[in-house]
Amino acid sequence: MNAPSTSAANAVDAAPPGGYASPQRLLRVAEQSGPIARGEVGRALRRWGLAELIPDAGMIVSELVANAVTHVRTLGPVRDRRIGLSVRRLPEGVLIEVHDAGSPLVVPEPPDLWDLEENGRGLLIVAALTDGAWGTSPRPGAPGKVVWALLKEPAPATPPAHPVLPTPMSRT
Ligand SMILES: Nc1ncnc2c1ncn2[C@@H]1O[C@H](COP(=O)(O)OP(=O)(O)OP(=O)(O)O)[C@@H](O)[C@H]1O
Ligand SMILES: [Mg+2]
Repeated sequence: MNAPSTSAANAVDAAPPGGYASPQRLLRVAEQSGPIARGEVGRALRRWGLAELIPDAGMIVSELVANAVTHVRTLGPVRDRRIGLSVRRLPEGVLIEVHDAGSPLVVPEPPDLWDLEENGRGLLIVAALTDGAWGTSPRPGAPGKVVWALLKEPAPATPPAHPVLPTPMSRT
């Protein structure tokens, strides 16, 4: 696998595939935001018959919601403290979007993976799980931004060209 990219050139000011849309669900900024968001995404994937994407999608949404919670908490009390969540099935794949009213995301330089620093790994995980298909852009008409990640759908299993016949049992 190539090293996942977290570079600014890749991700900043990249509108989500399909363009900007209002979030489907608003979540409170709370301890339970992550589990609630994971549940929402998991139910959508099950509905679409894409349950095998649940582990990766769960990690992605956890990282994005954790970041949104951190950054919305830095705002003053009068600001919009809800986090927006959408999960949409597009021709390009499953798009997860997390909206928050916090300051723009300044994508940091990729951290040194051998560094013992424990923070600064979340977006690297998102980049790795999406093969670099993630981004962030300002929300049109509202303060804050959307951070999105696109998971490719698994290719449908193709039946073997020739039917595999059971091996006859040998008689001795
Ligand atoms: N929603 C956000 N709003 C503003 N800045 C953000 C947001 N998400 C990420 N960032 C910026 O990108 C940096 C890297 O985020 P990343 O999730 O990779 O690491 P982290 O949150 O610092 O640590 P962790 O490894 O626990 O996730 C953050 O430190 C922050 O500066
Ligand atoms: Mg993080």
